[in-house]
Amino acid sequence: MAFCSGNPAVDRYIAEGYETVRGMSSAFAATICGHIIRRQTELGIKGHIAEVGTFEGRFFIAMALGLAEGERALGIDTFDWPNAGLYDRFIGHCDRLGLARERYVALKASTRNLSPADIAKALGGQKSAPQASEEKVRFWHIDGDHARDSLTVDLDLAHATMHHQGVLCLDDMLHPGYPLLVVAVHEWLEHHPDMRVLAIIDREDIVAAAKFVLCRADAVALYEQDLMATFKAQHWTLGSEWERYFCVVLTPRPRLAVVD
Ligand SMILES: C[S@@+](CC[C@H](N)C(=O)[O-])C[C@H]1O[C@@H](n2cnc3c(N)ncnc32)[C@H](O)[C@@H]1O
Repeated sequence: MAFCSGNPAVDRYIAEGYETVRGMSSAFAATICGHIIRRQTELGIKGHIAEVGTFEGRFFIAMALGLAEGERALGIDTFDWPNAGLYDRFIGHCDRLGLARERYVALKASTRNLSPADIAKALGGQKSAPQASEEKVRFWHIDGDHARDSLTVDLDLAHATMHHQGVLCLDDMLHPGYPLLVVAVHEWLEHHPDMRVLAIIDREDIVAAAKFVLCRADAVALYEQDLMATFKAQHWTLGSEWERYFCVVLTPRPRLAVVD
């Protein structure tokens, strides 16, 4: 199988539009995440997608184009860096690349000031009751402020609003510029034993760094074998050791060190 998400709209965007939107996520990761979103739809996992740190929309558009009927995308950003023109550039990219305005909402805010109720309201006033899982967020991309305490705030917000079979995708893990982010993830996981790392999507380069994909331990089976089989040519078979378990590693050029 060719390396693609399997969703024609997502794959067309990644091939033709992705590099025209400034951003810091890799096409490699966008393709794998597009596949995960498509698989969720096939499994009957319904819900929205959301991103902290939307910037100009590079990764956001890839996720949003993978939505099913009736689902919406939420982009959260302070939209003030590097200048006030960011919001208009984001809207312009969405228009130009075929993301209809009724499919998404942009929230100009810091996650430090948002509650789970704010997320539900922004997505259309949905209830946050546990039984309303189809009205929750099935795919979160967390790529906002890269301070350790900010990541903890974002993880708590995303966890409170995620679909019970959904995933949290964290950007810039193991990035040399942000070495303590993984400490925040480790500490957060210690307090959330129901959650674990499902997969690591390796970096393309220093501005398109690795992502961790987290989900509930009881949802791992929905994704794990499928990722290894679908992306066999990208699967680094030694896996990632988390002491109590191993998780999938996908990398653009898998190889093992020569030892003889
Ligand atoms: C690395 S950029 C995101 C890149 C984008 N996700 C991509 O893949 O191309 C980080 C973004 O996070 C935003 N940001 C930083 N702190 C934030 C916060 N507390 N709440 C919301 N957005 C924040 C910044 O304004 C910036 O646009």
